[in-house]
Amino acid sequence: LSSKTNPKALLAAVMSQFKYANGKYESFLERTFPRFYLLYSTFMKGFRTLFSEAKEIRRIKLNMSLQKIDFHQLPYREMERLRQFRRDLIKAIPIGLLSIPPFANYLVFVLMYLFPRQLLIRHFWTPKQQSEFLNIYHGMRREVYPDIMDSLEQVTRFLADQKLRNQMQELCIKVQGGSHPEVAKLLAVRSLFSGHPLSLQRLRICQVKALSRVLFLTPHLPSLFLRYRLQSHLVELQHLDRALLKLGVSDLSEEEVKMACYVRGLNSTHLSPSECQKWLKQWLQLSCELKDSEVSLLAHSMVLLSTNYLGAKE
Ligand SMILES: *[C@@H]1O[C@H](CO)[C@@H](O)[C@H](O)[C@H]1NC(C)=O
Repeated sequence: LSSKTNPKALLAAVMSQFKYANGKYESFLERTFPRFYLLYSTFMKGFRTLFSEAKEIRRIKLNMSLQKIDFHQLPYREMERLRQFRRDLIKAIPIGLLSIPPFANYLVFVLMYLFPRQLLIRHFWTPKQQSEFLNIYHGMRREVYPDIMDSLEQVTRFLADQKLRNQMQELCIKVQGGSHPEVAKLLAVRSLFSGHPLSLQRLRICQVKALSRVLFLTPHLPSLFLRYRLQSHLVELQHLDRALLKLGVSDLSEEEVKMACYVRGLNSTHLSPSECQKWLKQWLQLSCELKDSEVSLLAHSMVLLSTNYLGAKE
């Protein structure tokens, strides 16, 4: 090496050699240990996505403080990013704690390998695992859909207002009989969900627990806290919906539209993008009409609107 060599050029040469060697190593792994390679590349990709996501979140937060705007004033994609990131952080807490030195570090890897669904955030799932796990999670929340309908129907029997009682009964019979209800029918009974007997504050505790499970929130907490948390998550969802309406459903990519439906209670992994769009438009029609005090109807609609979509017997 002559003394004239530019240090920058030298660094670039070293980096390119390193990249070359790394590429060779990876293709060696891919050929020799294909299963390990899949794990390895999923991990590396996961870390890269996580890192760029963290940078993106920092940028959004910085922008928020510079422009003095709140969460609910953000554009849809940024709002959704932030919401998802918060959830991922909460999920990452146990593995983060386990990784602190006094605990066995290798154990963490073994646990991650054995329980990827429970312990890893979605960045570290292979594409096959993604659809598999989304299906499992949907299966878990779907278990409570019939209970929610039963409890709704029971409450309906004791309504004093005859007109509302009839409308509500009709709605329950329709959904329990396998049909997909219209949004107008849901809006017609909205007053029941803002006070007695179906508002989040008045609902029976077993119904609050079931709705928590529909939103993928743990039901094993004190009742007061469950109601408060359900309310705040639903209001957040409503903010997202308003931002989405501004953006326009047709502006979403295939993957985004599927995920948006999934978050709102629908088993969307096997639906076509146009079917998802159609459903999401119906959802927005409802959600953007409702006031904060009526979010209980939004929670119930995650069940009412998704139970029979497309499987409906007309
Ligand atoms: C979701 O829908 C697909 C296709 O309709 C079905 O095969 C799958 O079992 C459903 N998943 C759950 C958990 O209901």
